[in-house]
Amino acid sequence: MKKLAVNVDHVATLREARRTFYPDPVEAAVLAELAGAEGIVVHLREDRRHIKERDLKVLREVVKTCLNLEMAPVEEMVRIAREVRPDMATLVPERRQEITTEGGLDVIGYGEGLKGIISGLKEAGITVSIFVDPNPKQIEAAKAMGADAVEIHTGLYSEARTHERQQQELQKVMEAARQGKALGLSVRAGHGLNYWNVRPVALIPEIEELSIGHAIIARAVLVGMQQAVREMLELLR
Ligand code: PXP
Repeated sequence: MKKLAVNVDHVATLREARRTFYPDPVEAAVLAELAGAEGIVVHLREDRRHIKERDLKVLREVVKTCLNLEMAPVEEMVRIAREVRPDMATLVPERRQEITTEGGLDVIGYGEGLKGIISGLKEAGITVSIFVDPNPKQIEAAKAMGADAVEIHTGLYSEARTHERQQQELQKVMEAARQGKALGLSVRAGHGLNYWNVRPVALIPEIEELSIGHAIIARAVLVGMQQAVREMLELLR
């Protein structure tokens, strides 16, 4: 069975819609863990549009499973990560105007600078994952840069509007997972996964963990956080 890491960013999105102090992503994280999640994910963005440093620090105290910080590969975030020490950092590209992360990190495009960022995180005892498109060259580059893990971007699979297109994208994710595992990387996947499209991805043997946010938080609004997490875990079984 796959592990489920729940991204609680959108609990903070709801809080920030009124710039108040509720709902608290920390409380959502506790409920997600109680329902069986084995990881909690947050993205501390440069513009702090949802998750704040306070959330990250309190989560560090409270999360009992694996705290995974999604972060842009920039010095400010490396400093924060080294201070807070999440269990894992996932390097993601970031554009201010985007609604959500739009694709994998261009590991090749970043070049050697990324090695220093990765080693700075690893020195602090943080496991480093890179969010990558299912592209063999990017996965090879992630390994060469010293990453411990890759998270394969499932966004194109999730957004495919025809069965044929979805199958093509699924095939790419499967091949990427196989390649990542063969290179000795821990393989994860996520983005855009929901209660309707998750099963084919959950069946890919090389994938250890799925990172899912929006769909779970959206369902939690209606059925409660624990129920939403349990229903997702049922689909991963
Ligand atoms: N993985 C990464 C790297 C992400 O940036 C996100 C979105 O924050 C997710 C997974 C979760 O995506 P979703 O909210 O669509 O489930």
